Amino acid sequence: MQVSRNEIIAVQIPRHIAIIMDGNGRWAKKRFLPRTAGHQAGVSAVRKTVEYCIQKSVAVLTLFAFSSENWRRPQQEVSILMELFISTLEHETEKLHQNGVRLRVIGDRGALARPLQDKIAASEQLTRNNQKLNLVIATNYGGRWDILQGVREVARKVKENVISIADIDDQVFESHLSLSDLPEPDLFIRTGGEQRISNFVLWQLAYTELYFTTTLWPDFDEQSLELALEDYANRQRRFGYTSEQVESRANQSVPQPGLLD
Ligand code: IPE
Ligand code: IPE
Ligand code: MG
Repeated sequence: MQVSRNEIIAVQIPRHIAIIMDGNGRWAKKRFLPRTAGHQAGVSAVRKTVEYCIQKSVAVLTLFAFSSENWRRPQQEVSILMELFISTLEHETEKLHQNGVRLRVIGDRGALARPLQDKIAASEQLTRNNQKLNLVIATNYGGRWDILQGVREVARKVKENVISIADIDDQVFESHLSLSDLPEPDLFIRTGGEQRISNFVLWQLAYTELYFTTTLWPDFDEQSLELALEDYANRQRRFGYTSEQVESRANQSVPQPGLLD
């Protein structure tokens, strides 16, 4: 039976998409606008991406909004990014809630201004029971920070005899990381043309499919996401197995590590 391209895509929709939204500054520069205009335009691309992920029944969308290294930028740009974050939360939370989106923020939020911390807590509280899409915003987040805070927590539990050193395996360790209750990213997208991870999710990207596009984040639209999904649908995820092993189980859904054991 002939299966259409759309059907193939429909059956291979990633459960979790993680995106480095890069290229706002260059988008603005091309238009002789200040970098902050690029960040503003980037918010529209976030809105579109969220809507599209809801339509496609993606379970988790993680967006890298501000890295632990982005504090190094000019003070004025950092302030404007923080203000944009607050105003976006103010304007969008209700709509996200109505659309069944659960919003969560990961990262070291203790370093954020108090009003922003409060807004984040309120948005998380309002949307906590929603189940349509988990929207995770990584702010003042770094993959190394996440691993280190997990290590500290595990070390504390060992010291207090809650767990023993021999108990520490992949699962126990992972349960101390920020995205612990969510599936690992299936598809990683970076816009803006750079081919690097820039300290985004590190541990959980171990078997994620990586996709890089030169499209600048404010230009990223439904068609750009379709292209990424199409590329993803054509990949064979092997998790260390051979193609033959994976194909012999082709009737099963996407293989996961251990599934073929
Ligand atoms: C990504 O766009 C947004 C943030 C890092 C906050 P950039 O601001 O990094 O845009 P480019 O890379 O300078 O074009
Ligand atoms: C990564 O982009 C962080 C976010 C998109 C929030 P950067 O633009 O900061 O990354 P580098 O510095 O080019 O690696
Ligand atoms: Mg950049």
